Amino acid sequence: MEELQVQHWPTPHLNLIELPRSHEERAFSQAVVDGLSKQQKTLPCRYFYDLAGSKLFEQICELPEYYLTRTEQKIFEDNSTDIIDALGHELAIVEFGSGNSIKTRLLINAALKRQKHLHYIPVDISSSFLKASSHALLGQIDELSITAIAAEYADALPIIPAPKEPRLFLFIGSNIGNFNRAEAVSFMTKIRKRMDSKDRLLISFDLVKASHILEAAYNDAAGVTAAFNKNLLARINRELGATFSISEFDHFAPFVQEHSRIEMRLISKCPQYVYINNLQREFSFEQGEYIHTEDSHKYTFQSFAEICRAAGLEIQNQWLDKQKWFAVALLKPREI
Ligand code: AVI
Repeated sequence: MEELQVQHWPTPHLNLIELPRSHEERAFSQAVVDGLSKQQKTLPCRYFYDLAGSKLFEQICELPEYYLTRTEQKIFEDNSTDIIDALGHELAIVEFGSGNSIKTRLLINAALKRQKHLHYIPVDISSSFLKASSHALLGQIDELSITAIAAEYADALPIIPAPKEPRLFLFIGSNIGNFNRAEAVSFMTKIRKRMDSKDRLLISFDLVKASHILEAAYNDAAGVTAAFNKNLLARINRELGATFSISEFDHFAPFVQEHSRIEMRLISKCPQYVYINNLQREFSFEQGEYIHTEDSHKYTFQSFAEICRAAGLEIQNQWLDKQKWFAVALLKPREI
C-alpha cells in the first residue's frame, strides 16, 4: 500500500490527508469505452464534474426551476439547531462532498452553540477544492479544526479519524439520488459499519412530486442543464481526442415513473459516427438513439426508509420543507 501524505497546510488547524488517486485518466477512458459499447449506451455521471462542469452545476443550483438547492437550504436554515439538538451531546462532523456549502456552515454554527470547539472532517475527491473551502471556513470560524481527506469516499472511510466525540456523518445535497438502489445501500452500509452507537448519519433526499415540476428542474428554460449534460461530450473531445459534434445531440431529461427517477439523456439527432482518437475506437449512433448519462432518484418516505433498513439504519428524525418536496433524515444504526 502506498504511503499516506499528511500535510500541515499551512495552519496548525488544518491537516490535509491525500490518498493516491487510482489512475484517473485510464479510469475515464475505460468508463467511456465500457459505456459506449453497451446496447443501451451510458456514461457515468461522476465525470460531469470537471472545471467547466462544476461551474455549470453551480449555475444549475441558482436556476428558478431547480428547487432542490434552495429548498434544502431553507430546511437547514429553519432546523439546524434542532438537528444538532437531536444528537444531544458534543460531536465531530464528517462530510462527504460539497464542503463549502452554506448548509454545512449552518450546522457548524449550530454545533458551536453547544460546544466550544468542533473537529470538522470533509472528504472530497479534489484536494484543491478542499484546501480552498477549508481555508475559507478557518478564516471565519476560530473554534474549528479541520482534517480534510482528499480521496474517493470508499477509500477514505477506513482512515476517517474517530475523535473522542461521537461523529455526525453528512451526505447532503441529495447526492444519494444519483446512486442506484444497490449503490445507495452499499455506501450507506459501509458508513454504518464504521459507526458507533452514538454516531449519526444525516442524509438529504428529494421526494416524488408532480412530474412537470421534476422535469422542469432538469430541462430548464435557459438551457444550463443541457449545457451541463453536453459538457460530458465536450470533455471526451478535450481529454480523449474525440470527434463528438455537440450540436448533433439533444438534451432530454424525462421523469421515468417506473424507476421513480429523472433520466438525463443525450439524444443523437441523426445517424452519425464518432471517433475517439486516444482509444482508437469508433462508435455509431442511430437517429434517436441516446446516451444515458445520469439518474436522479426521487423517493417516497417508504422507499427511502426501505433503503435505510436494508443498510442496517433506522430513521431517528426527519425534517421537511412546507411543500413536502425535500427531506433531511437523521439515521442511527439499527439495533438488531
Ligand atoms: C448532484 N445531484 C444531486 C444533482 C441532481 O439533481 O441529481 C445533479 C444534477 N443533474 C442535473 N441537474 C442537477
